[in-house]
Amino acid sequence: MDYLFDPSTLAAATAADDATRADQLSVDDIGCKYRLRPLCLTDYALGYLDLLSQLTVTGSVTQQMYANTFDAMRNNSGTYYIIVIEDTEENCIVATGSLTIEKKFIHQCGQRGRIEDIVVHSNCRGKRFGKIVVQRLIALSRVLNCYKISLECKDSNVNWYSSMGFVREPGNSNYMQIRSYLFQLIAFCYSYTPTRNVN
Ligand SMILES: CC(C)(COP(=O)(O)OP(=O)(O)OC[C@H]1O[C@@H](n2cnc3c(N)ncnc32)[C@H](O)[C@@H]1OP(=O)(O)O)[C@@H](O)C(=O)NCCC(=O)NCCS
Repeated sequence: MDYLFDPSTLAAATAADDATRADQLSVDDIGCKYRLRPLCLTDYALGYLDLLSQLTVTGSVTQQMYANTFDAMRNNSGTYYIIVIEDTEENCIVATGSLTIEKKFIHQCGQRGRIEDIVVHSNCRGKRFGKIVVQRLIALSRVLNCYKISLECKDSNVNWYSSMGFVREPGNSNYMQIRSYLFQLIAFCYSYTPTRNVN
């Protein structure tokens, strides 16, 4: 398998994951039809982009574009940790989440993590897959010695993340952004299907 990062790092996180280790979903677990593992180059064919499109606009990503980004991420060793849950019977990806590591000069040249792009396939929600993915990413951040991890989410998901230990620190929980209107325009164009007159 062509993994984005070394599966032994994920195995170490699984062993250290007190919250969801009992769910027995891991790279080495062949007894279960669901496997939790690092993203693979071949996951494009297993519907990884389709799954992401249930989270946000993906645009039109060709297999070559996917492969180029995958290689760029993999070559940035120690930075990109994307995990997936694969349904090995249906041959599709049903859940995913990512942990991105930033190296710092502060905190004794420490590193911090950002959790992003958490999504579970609409047919598989409510099976604890989302929780397993997030808890495994938290365990991964501990194995990688992050001094903190953070995420941004919709109001409707605050309680869900709170149930996994994330807190809004008083006086320090503002999230600000500048969006590129060019990208919004491109996303709009991709999502716009003109109504055709068939006559
Ligand atoms: C949010 C999401 C990832 C949750 O995944 P999931 O696998 O369905 O959730 P889980 O089964 O792990 O949830 C576990 C528990 O949290 C509860 N829960 C789920 N979503 C919740 C929410 N938004 N707020 C509060 N509780 C929630 C479940 O009811 C379940 O409770 P239980 O253990 O008492 O049965 C999924 O709904 C999804 O993909 N949504 C669309 C994309 C999205 O919003 N992603 C998050 C971006 S910040």
